[in-house]
Amino acid sequence: MRTKVAIIGGGPAGLMLGHLLTREGIDNVIVERQSGAYVLGRIRAGVLEQGTVDLLEQSGAGSRMRAEGLPHEGFELSFDGDRLRIDLAKLTGRSVMVYGQTEVTRDLMALREQAGAPTLYEAKDVALEGLEGSPVVHFTRNGERQSLACEYVAGCDGFHGVCRKSIPAEHIRLFERVYPFGWLGLLVDRPPAAPELIYAHHARGFALCSMRSATRSRYYIQCSMDEKVADWSDDRFYDELGRRLNPAVADALKRGPSIEKSIAPLRSFVAEPLRFGHLFLAGDSAHIVPPTGAKGLNLALHDVRVLFEALAEHYRTGSATALERYSPRVLDRIWKTERFSWSMTTLLHNFPEHDPFTRRMQRAEFDALAGSPTAQRMMAESYTGQFG
Ligand code: APR
Ligand code: PHB
Repeated sequence: MRTKVAIIGGGPAGLMLGHLLTREGIDNVIVERQSGAYVLGRIRAGVLEQGTVDLLEQSGAGSRMRAEGLPHEGFELSFDGDRLRIDLAKLTGRSVMVYGQTEVTRDLMALREQAGAPTLYEAKDVALEGLEGSPVVHFTRNGERQSLACEYVAGCDGFHGVCRKSIPAEHIRLFERVYPFGWLGLLVDRPPAAPELIYAHHARGFALCSMRSATRSRYYIQCSMDEKVADWSDDRFYDELGRRLNPAVADALKRGPSIEKSIAPLRSFVAEPLRFGHLFLAGDSAHIVPPTGAKGLNLALHDVRVLFEALAEHYRTGSATALERYSPRVLDRIWKTERFSWSMTTLLHNFPEHDPFTRRMQRAEFDALAGSPTAQRMMAESYTGQFG
């Protein structure tokens, strides 16, 4: 087998890159470890920046999002029950779109199938060879060892993938912070407690009220990574969530049987640079942000848009300049996004190591935001994806 661009990983990053390349007539194959059903079973965040919405629409992948997504012109911060609305529309002239990552993935999968572009699902034990010259991707599929020769490899295989690990240690630097807590999430077919997202700081821990649609809600509470999902009945979850919210919001919570409940760790992570020979890293294989700013998918899709433009220029003109600029160009946005996600996480969570002074500083920061439209504008610019 042979192709121009081998894309490792069929999550949203790999699928979007494949979609853009296919539209441009550039041959590509996606090699994915799991089945398509497994990929669609993963529950992830669901807030799209304007730039992400534009990319989906301009590339012909936005019709269902436009019809079913919920435009949000603001969100709320809550601090020990005190509420502050961040008016995105007034502060920045922009809004965000609430549309689940699972739905973006489903739409991109359908387009790929219609286009007849190949995705090799359930490809196990992927190994990369020849990254500095002529790459070959090896994998086991249907019980057989197979290989795919290519010109470039796009490492879109997420944080635990094989691509980043294929770069020799002396050619890559890793920056990481693992937070001393996780998020316990619950999905339920009940209308949301409030019309906009609420990010809540509370002495008992962070809480988030989010949604997937007008009838499906997504809630999270900060928990210790030692917690077991099995110990959290739905009622225990709703009781704890309610304690961390403003009483009026807590009263409006509509309880129902959970469809999904899981614990996710929080991590900040960046690899540098994002190129080794003919291998380019994009999405979660290159960086992780904690979910507090809802940036993971947006950042991943920004990476692949820039990578696509660089590959397209290369195949159009033979020039390698844009490919050389890929890593520094996306890292600029990655670090700005890391800073925002880290600062939201730091403001809103309960850190076991915080002393009373540091906890007062969190409150002082909330009060400073509440008192300053300028400070709110900075937060709103980052939330809507204006990173300069
Ligand atoms: N070989 C082939 N495929 C692999 C391998 C491997 N060794 N390892 C992982 N994969 C696949 C995974 O099964 C997954 O489908 O790569 C895909 C990576 O997808 P994601 O983890 O969704 O990462 P990405 O496409 O970069 O999307 C980033 O996901 O985690 C969220 O917040 C993040 O929203 C952001 C988005
Ligand atoms: C979600 O809906 O899952 C969600 C929303 C916003 C976040 C994180 C997760 O910041």
